[in-house]
Amino acid sequence: MTDQIVVAIDGPAGSGKSSVSKEVARKLGFGYLDTGAAYRALAWYALDENVDTADASAIADAATVFPYAISLDPDLYWVRVGETDVTSAIREPRVAAAVSAVARVPAVRDSVNAAFRRLIGEATAPGVVVEGRDITTVVAPDAPVRLLLTAAPEVRAARRSAELTSEDAASVAAALHQRDASDARVADFLTAAEGVTVVDSTDLDFAATVDAVLEIVRTQTGEHHGD
Ligand code: CDP
Ligand code: CDP
Repeated sequence: MTDQIVVAIDGPAGSGKSSVSKEVARKLGFGYLDTGAAYRALAWYALDENVDTADASAIADAATVFPYAISLDPDLYWVRVGETDVTSAIREPRVAAAVSAVARVPAVRDSVNAAFRRLIGEATAPGVVVEGRDITTVVAPDAPVRLLLTAAPEVRAARRSAELTSEDAASVAAALHQRDASDARVADFLTAAEGVTVVDSTDLDFAATVDAVLEIVRTQTGEHHGD
């Protein structure tokens, strides 16, 4: 890894990781890496190519060839598979329903983690905000800033439900909790590892959560990017 400042953020679905990380990156002039988008893009690719998402070895093979690219620019966020822009498509419920099975395959995690470390190393910004489920523990355990972003389950479900207006609230909540339970078998993102600071956004609005994270970055790095 380079001498860039890595801000590692983990947490469950709907805790605010993506939106808060993106805004923190903007304010700091840092890059932004959404690791969940890589797993979602692989799930999208498997569905598109009719690869059985329950077949671990077929998914592991797919992970070695899927032509995936992601922007590190928080102001110009996109995800592509080959020539196809999948930025919106990877948020569809059918992709969310398939992603845990794809992400739990160890060979998949090894190859995407290697790609994440490469991307972080190649970033030209003075730092990168990296968010996901195992960033503080596996992808960047030596990051100078490591945070766990949490919120009460009903608050997380309500936030996600407000985004997915075509889905009914009860099924959004059920799908989100099911995905968290499945994901938690692979990475423990519900308890903070040693040295990881918890930010509970249950009673914080978006702006207050961003401010809380920025304050921690400033305190823990002693630097004042974006001031
Ligand atoms: O945005 P949301 O929290 O709903 O999910 P995401 O961050 O886009 O992640 C999508 C899925 O990718 C998760 O449900 C996990 O199955 C997987 N994931 C993972 O296994 N490890 C990561 N570092 C990030 C995501
Ligand atoms: O990436 P993750 O699934 O953890 O969450 P997200 O997609 O960033 O956030 C889900 C929704 O919650 C977004 O619409 C955010 O704007 C919103 N949010 C909020 O209302 N209050 C917060 N303190 C944090 C996020």
